Amino acid sequence: MPNPESRSYRIAVLASGRGSNLQALLDAIADGSLPARIVGVFSDKPAAVALQRARDVGIPARALSPKAFASRVDFDAALFAAVDEVRPDLIVCAGYMRLIDGAVVDARRGRVINIHPSLLPAFKGLHTHQQALDAAATEHGASIHFVTPDLDGGPVIAQARVPVHPGDDADALAARVLEREHPLLVETLRWFAAGRIRLAEDGVHVDGRASVPLQLAANLRFA
Ligand code: GAR
Repeated sequence: MPNPESRSYRIAVLASGRGSNLQALLDAIADGSLPARIVGVFSDKPAAVALQRARDVGIPARALSPKAFASRVDFDAALFAAVDEVRPDLIVCAGYMRLIDGAVVDARRGRVINIHPSLLPAFKGLHTHQQALDAAATEHGASIHFVTPDLDGGPVIAQARVPVHPGDDADALAARVLEREHPLLVETLRWFAAGRIRLAEDGVHVDGRASVPLQLAANLRFA
């Protein structure tokens, strides 16, 4: 008899903090709207709430402390050796707040993605909501991109847009963006699990063709 688990799409999640994006994936898998399996959750912070969310539903969760390693290269080698052990099809950085060594990323080209709280290429790095306010942006949002050695600079796969309202502060804007991050991540992973998205030599391909970033529509699917 075929083992149903052997066919399911295997996702490893890296997270440093509260893990609301991880929770959105767990919820979508539980309600049957995301045909995939989270095979491991990994963190650089032993106290990350994300680890507990995974353990609560019986998913292996592991933290490695950067302080225990002589260098970033050594830390990333150990972390990704642990990730490789769970044999993921895709590695999802969901609120993972550390730079990843370029060689580690290159060795997994097309298999590591990140969710970033801005409409890339605008506002890379930290404090993206404040960056958007300081730039008087009228539109803001979140992007999912392939991770490359170029920080927040890898090919963009998909985006969700929100308006910036007069009087917004960084917290108000962050909350509006986060609400769209969750369906954006779930929908993107549905397309990955269906084999529709891949990284080609010339950038992101969707359904076998070069693609501009997919846009999350009001119905929470790609337009
Ligand atoms: C999310 O807003 C995510 O886009 C951001 O961290 C938050 C994590 O929230 N990621 C980055 O800033 C990556 N540079 P979560 O832990 O509740 O999913």
